[in-house]
Amino acid sequence: MSAEVLPGEDPGTIALAAAILLRGGLVAFPTETVYGLGANAFDARAVARIFAVKARPAFDPLIVHLADATELGRVALADEPRIQALAERFWPGPLTLVLPRRAELPELVSAGLDTVGVRVPAHPVAHALLVAAGTPVAAPSANPFGYVSPTTAAHVAERLGDHVDLVLDGGACRVGVESTILSLVGTPLILRPGGVPKEELEAALGLRLAVAAPSERPAAPGQLLRHYATHTRLRILPGPAAAPPPGERRVGLLAFSRRTPPEGYAAVELLAPDGSLATAAANLFAALRRLDALGLDLLLVEPCPETGLGHAIMDRLRRAAAPRE
Ligand code: TXA
Ligand code: MG
Repeated sequence: MSAEVLPGEDPGTIALAAAILLRGGLVAFPTETVYGLGANAFDARAVARIFAVKARPAFDPLIVHLADATELGRVALADEPRIQALAERFWPGPLTLVLPRRAELPELVSAGLDTVGVRVPAHPVAHALLVAAGTPVAAPSANPFGYVSPTTAAHVAERLGDHVDLVLDGGACRVGVESTILSLVGTPLILRPGGVPKEELEAALGLRLAVAAPSERPAAPGQLLRHYATHTRLRILPGPAAAPPPGERRVGLLAFSRRTPPEGYAAVELLAPDGSLATAAANLFAALRRLDALGLDLLLVEPCPETGLGHAIMDRLRRAAAPRE
């Protein structure tokens, strides 16, 4: 049996979704970054179902979503002075803060860590759901663990449809890559580049930020070297694509912004016809899924400039390209 997919703008649907969450069910919902697979963060059994449905290792903590920043005290210890400034500047929006957790939050949410990742999503459907449910919602991206993240309701229904109680459709995600994760426990550190560019965080905090290397964070699998991965082998090119390499039969190309790619590719996806990184980010996961669905022998990817959202795009591509264990 497949989950129902309903338009998220409808108030009756939001009330239904909130009721499902409050009785321990799972609701997939749109955010501005990617679709999330949500459970009531205070319901340990519901949270456990998320891990089961995603086939996600229990040592990978979940992000807790709040209706607004005033809810922060329910899940985290928020006396760090920088929090207020960051919340005012970036929430609602694609920034997750890692903070010391409140003991009342089920341990499974943060996978036994004494910290919790929290964010206030900007999508109106996510906001309406959080307000209606009246509880913080733990939600990872709504995809099987390790696979390309979902940016449409159809992506969710394809892969997880049988296992969620309801999918709220809020259209294609505007940002298209996940939130930036900033740890404020100890020296501020970017754990995952994402929808808020590092440069903007540095300007807001008045300091330079380091980005944790994937291998430095074995306890947080979003940082795993191989993640966000296609089934088809994927390789990042050093620069603009030339003809496909000899010896590979059917090769797909993920081009950045050139309208006329070289000949010989079995399929080509253009990430950013307008050359902008925001467009590339918004198209990234859907384009990867379309190429992956063709069952080609190899996917080649043109690099994009590593500024602003380019950090997040190249981070996801490098992990998708990392060798299988
Ligand atoms: O944009 C997003 O952040 C999306 C939407 C749905 O909000 N969510 C998302 O969740 O990307 P997920 O579970 O796919 O990735 C969350 C990452 C994980 O890699 C996890 O390791 C890290 O956040 N994380 C969560 N809590 C953490 C914590 N307390 N300390 C370190 N890393 C944490
Ligand atoms: Mg994910």
